[in-house]
Amino acid sequence: MLQSPAVSPRLLPPVLNDNTEVPPAELVTAIRQGDAAAQESAIAKILDGQALDDDILTALQDCDPCINAAKQEEMLRDKSEKDLQALQKNPDIAGLLKKFFVAIPSLQEPNVVADVSGEESVQNYQMVSGALVGDTFSMTNDAYRTAIRDGFFEVEIPASLKPHIEVLDLFVQEFYKDKTNDGSSLDVYRGFNQAFNRDHPEYDPSPVEGYMLDNEKPKAIVQDKKRENQVERFSLAKTPTGNHWEHYPHDVQVALQEMNTVGVKILQFVLGKLGLPEALYGLATGGAAVDNGDHFGLFNHFDPAVDVRGLKAHADWSNVTVLRSSQPGLSAYIDGKWQDIRPSSDNHFIINFGTTLELLTAKLPPDERIKACVHQVFQQTVERTSYPVFLDHSLMAPVVECRDLEDGRKLVVQQPSFLSYANEMTRKTYEGENTEWI
Ligand SMILES: [Fe+2]
Repeated sequence: MLQSPAVSPRLLPPVLNDNTEVPPAELVTAIRQGDAAAQESAIAKILDGQALDDDILTALQDCDPCINAAKQEEMLRDKSEKDLQALQKNPDIAGLLKKFFVAIPSLQEPNVVADVSGEESVQNYQMVSGALVGDTFSMTNDAYRTAIRDGFFEVEIPASLKPHIEVLDLFVQEFYKDKTNDGSSLDVYRGFNQAFNRDHPEYDPSPVEGYMLDNEKPKAIVQDKKRENQVERFSLAKTPTGNHWEHYPHDVQVALQEMNTVGVKILQFVLGKLGLPEALYGLATGGAAVDNGDHFGLFNHFDPAVDVRGLKAHADWSNVTVLRSSQPGLSAYIDGKWQDIRPSSDNHFIINFGTTLELLTAKLPPDERIKACVHQVFQQTVERTSYPVFLDHSLMAPVVECRDLEDGRKLVVQQPSFLSYANEMTRKTYEGENTEWI
């Protein structure tokens, strides 16, 4: 339980007790100083559906919560489940309820995983960790074995990346909105939606770049077609033939490159574990392990107003995916059941392997094979965002596999180009051929 800082126990007494309005500045100070009565007063207003001053909300978000367990229960006694769910639709309010009602288990894990008929129950998956130290990625042998067997692990975000992640955390909240053109500083992060497609017809032919719903440009979706996924997404690639990340705001570009570098280091570590010489890192990954593949920066927004699943089950066809996803909803099929994938803190990336690494290692001894794990996002009842960087092969690069031949471990071409492979995977994933993933 969090302890209240040492402050005057009755910082704001009769004022709050007789419902007299406390000046906002005083209330902000009291909340920040850990006055339980002040915090209780503000949270009670939220529970009653009242709007609070921005400064008060910020103070609530920043302070150490001090409302004791008995009081927490008392405050919620006359609140219905429905009322609480309505409040939780606002992510800021949901975060505050979770923070201030630590004694109320039902508020600690919002019910965002839909009750999917026929699904097995979702369990939490305990991810193993790797670490970025200086310029290299490392992982214990035991953790590596688990990571490649299950396909998911996590990495703590280095301190030097945190400012970049703050940029991307903001961008992902805004990209899908229209620009307001009213001088808002956030406008630079907005308009990465149908407006982008309209203003950049050169991206029309691309099946994987621009703004999309159901893996299609929205204009290709007929009016009455039912949406199949809640997710709307915007994606651009940095490739050997062109850096489309230049369309992103500069700070977003820089931040994506930082995430991409994390993926490059992980790939180099994996290829080292496979015993490949550095000279073959590029060939083994279609350029991705030497930062010369197709590197996608993609932003997801799940709209709870759309009454369908979040995102269809699929395996990534990247080499590796570096994912920022802190909210509940992501689930992976591990050990024969769907398991909830949540990082151990808000300060971790989720990492998963893709099908091209699975192919690369498919003919190696079983304990060296890498799993591209199938995953999905269940239907969301609150706003949800996430953003991955995919480290894919470049389109014209061959897809290769490792084989242990008489004269040693060699790379053998398995598919002539990643282009044909990616087209096949797109068809399988989004046109229903992989029915076992649905
Ligand atoms: Fe994925």
